[in-house]
Amino acid sequence: MEKTLVLIKPDAFANHHTGDIIQRYEQEGLRIVALKMLRMDDRLASIHYAEHIGRPYYEGLCTFMTSGPLVAMVLEGEDAIRRVRALNGKTNPAEAAEGTIRKAYALDGRRNAVHASDSPESAAREISIFFNQTEIYDG
Ligand code: CDP
Ligand code: MG
Repeated sequence: MEKTLVLIKPDAFANHHTGDIIQRYEQEGLRIVALKMLRMDDRLASIHYAEHIGRPYYEGLCTFMTSGPLVAMVLEGEDAIRRVRALNGKTNPAEAAEGTIRKAYALDGRRNAVHASDSPESAAREISIFFNQTEIYDG
């Protein structure tokens, strides 16, 4: 069993897509083992998106991610990291496949509805940014 961090980003949350997005994951057999709502600040954004600091889009990404509340969750399942990224679709909705979450809900290549971890290492790192061990129910 593998765990991955998912964020329902401020655009999708504000547009009332939270329930539908969660349902898509659950229908695929992924299990919610942690869930919370929060608003990122610049410091949290810089930790979560550390590898993007200095890129031309970083300031805009940071402004977007701190613009309103988001939902953070940990999903668990077999091959969860790969499966969740496949359900999300490509970063830019113009390139995302039909039936993916980003195809349905992303507004553009920045306001793209969801985040998901891209490797076991990033999943472990990102989960620990948002959740304490006591908040993860994986018994
Ligand atoms: O989220 P994902 O792993 O698919 O893409 P990424 O390349 O790791 O980029 C992280 C996030 O930065 C994206 O999901 C976009 O929200 C944002 N981004 C952006 O605003 N402009 C870009 N040119 C590329 C990414
Ligand atoms: Mg990424």
